[in-house]
Amino acid sequence: MTQDELKQAVARAAIEYVVDGEIIGVGTGSTANFFIDELGKIKSRIKGAVASSEATATRLRGHGIEVFDLNDVESISVYVDGADEINATGAMIKGGGAALTREKIVASVSGKFVCIADGSKLVETLGKFPLPVEVVPMAANAVSRKLTALGGQPRLRTKPGSTDAFVTDNGGYILDVAGLSITDAVALESDINQIVGVIAVGLFARRGADVCLLGTGDGVKKLTF
Ligand code: A5P
Repeated sequence: MTQDELKQAVARAAIEYVVDGEIIGVGTGSTANFFIDELGKIKSRIKGAVASSEATATRLRGHGIEVFDLNDVESISVYVDGADEINATGAMIKGGGAALTREKIVASVSGKFVCIADGSKLVETLGKFPLPVEVVPMAANAVSRKLTALGGQPRLRTKPGSTDAFVTDNGGYILDVAGLSITDAVALESDINQIVGVIAVGLFARRGADVCLLGTGDGVKKLTF
């Protein structure tokens, strides 16, 4: 099976978690895109969705799914999203697609976080994938110095093929922090959150996944945390 087929398989499996008549929280990235395509097939069953990025909102609308502003929504039962890395406790690194802040917000108000990922995302220790940290642009260098002091090697994310800084949906910059071997994800998430100028860190440890549907050559494996 190709990686895309594995992503498609977990996206299909996640439909089981969709609650009829409700608003679904939807993540960002290539795996989430497959989920949106599956959601499109059963759109008459749901009320709509809350999107974690402009890209996701556009794709949802393309399928005729109504996109709600989170301010107009009282509760979300289920949030479905991918991950860049996930460990055996359900803690994740996210933000490879630059949507970490909105993903974290939508996840924080959702009852259940269903992570959908191909098997390559399951790791013993988080940190091989550089940890994305969204920052207020004027604080990028100041935050970089603090992240270096924490043992990381931060690098400003740039637009593809350019030296200009990449700008998120929120107007922030992203620092991708390499060189971290994350043994205490909850503590590191808290330490990075304390740095003035940080908008959000792509470490989802305090609020990790509740379920992970993992695509493997032997089928979709379900991990619960
Ligand atoms: C988006 O900002 C990320 O958190 C994605 O969830 C993550 O990068 C996974 O993306 P893929 O599904 O494309 O691997």
